[in-house]
Amino acid sequence: GSGADLAGRHVVVSAGGTREPLDPVRFLGNRSSGKQGYALARTAAARGARVTLVSANSALPDPAGVDVVRVGSTLELREAVTKAAAEADAVVMAAAVADFRPAVYATGKIKKKDDREPEPLALVRNPDILAELSASRPRSGQVVVGFAAETDDVLPHGRAKLAAKGCDLLVVNEVGESKTFGSEENEAVVLGADGSETPVPYGPKETLAETVWDLIAERLPAAPRE
Ligand code: C5P
Repeated sequence: GSGADLAGRHVVVSAGGTREPLDPVRFLGNRSSGKQGYALARTAAARGARVTLVSANSALPDPAGVDVVRVGSTLELREAVTKAAAEADAVVMAAAVADFRPAVYATGKIKKKDDREPEPLALVRNPDILAELSASRPRSGQVVVGFAAETDDVLPHGRAKLAAKGCDLLVVNEVGESKTFGSEENEAVVLGADGSETPVPYGPKETLAETVWDLIAERLPAAPRE
């Protein structure tokens, strides 16, 4: 990262994991902590950007100097991100977004019925927010970034996903076991729609965040708008 190279820019970061409500007390969710998205928000603020952090169910405290919008479900996250993106120079979708949500929300707590098996849980698809943002580009020159976790054939799968989503950059997290020692290995490669490939060695989430902002800064239109 370099000084205040994001001064005059407005960036939007989504973080955490969405929860899809089943009834007033239950949800379908995931284990995302929000740490990567928060690291992205903090580093962008440190580089001078105005930051809107759309945070889905993270337990982390609000970072200083960042506008935080708290959301629960995917539809809430979509509304908040879409609204903030209208005036953003860059949008980074670091949140783990549920692909599906329960088809029906029960307004009262779902009860078990004696000696009856439960009904199968019907799900419907959620909108793909990253693909929508990439297609709509409310601001010219806006840079849109996604995240993806892959376990095998990381680069081909990442390339295909980047193309399918239509974003400018895709941060591909390799999650899996080392072939040699069976140990956990975490690696990221940032793929660019222009064909670029930037490997980021295992390390703190801030390091990956700085690399992502470096790559975004290179792609932003030259002069910050007023
Ligand atoms: O397709 P996949 O879920 O692997 O893509 C991950 C990327 O897409 C992440 O950046 C995530 O925030 C975004 N995403 C989204 N809307 C969805 C599902 C994923 O924006 N419904």
